[in-house]
Amino acid sequence: MNKIIAANWKMHGNNNFVSDYFEFFTKNLKNKCNNEIIIFPSYLHLDKANIFKKKYNSFKLGAQSCHFNNKIAQTSSISADMLSDIGCDYVLVGHSEWRNNNDEKTISHILQNVLENNMVPIYCVGENLSEKENSKTESVIETQLKNIIDNSDLFNNKIVIAYEPVWAIGSGLTPEISVISFIHSYIKSKLLQKLPSLQEKDIMVLYGGSVNLKNTKEILKTNNVDGVLIGGASINIEEFTNICNEKL
Ligand code: PGA
Repeated sequence: MNKIIAANWKMHGNNNFVSDYFEFFTKNLKNKCNNEIIIFPSYLHLDKANIFKKKYNSFKLGAQSCHFNNKIAQTSSISADMLSDIGCDYVLVGHSEWRNNNDEKTISHILQNVLENNMVPIYCVGENLSEKENSKTESVIETQLKNIIDNSDLFNNKIVIAYEPVWAIGSGLTPEISVISFIHSYIKSKLLQKLPSLQEKDIMVLYGGSVNLKNTKEILKTNNVDGVLIGGASINIEEFTNICNEKL
């Protein structure tokens, strides 16, 4: 596998959108085997997306979050075993649009639940604007990485982190390329330092926050960037397919 290219649809889509998206995508995707493409639809559209996954085998499927406990009665929640059953390979954990209402302990339990149900978490970290302005980026990320370290015995030698500065999400702003490279290297070195049995190849760090067709190539070619997590630009199917077809 080369890079991960992930589409986070957030709260977007309807039945027609899902069909049109995957028909277009499958017809126009060129470099099928080089990159791992992961689509994160809403919970509601996972089942339909899974039909296309099985039919075309051109992408993996992910959920945008899940509950930390499969066994309790919890109105409105979705459990990890339901997601695994419906065909999910990946789950986003700790996305900043969701993280605010949840403490670190809950996030740690979700990580644990995802791993115990044999899916791969994509664990989101990143500083908000005031943390950036107060030079706290590294310390914020170090604290957030503690959940990975605490659950390290459950990982099957593949840790995927998404560095998503909160101020870059949906804003059209991105950090300098050198900053992205530096933070990704910081994340890898922190994990290697705390988990000496890991090797660098076991850790993938994706960048997310205002990624689009114009900036993808530069970001993906940056040292220590193993992929991208794309929100807004991923719901434009032509733009997203062109991103997946970029020659690196
Ligand atoms: P964006 O969102 O690409 O629209 O900035 C990224 C994300 O929230 O994962």
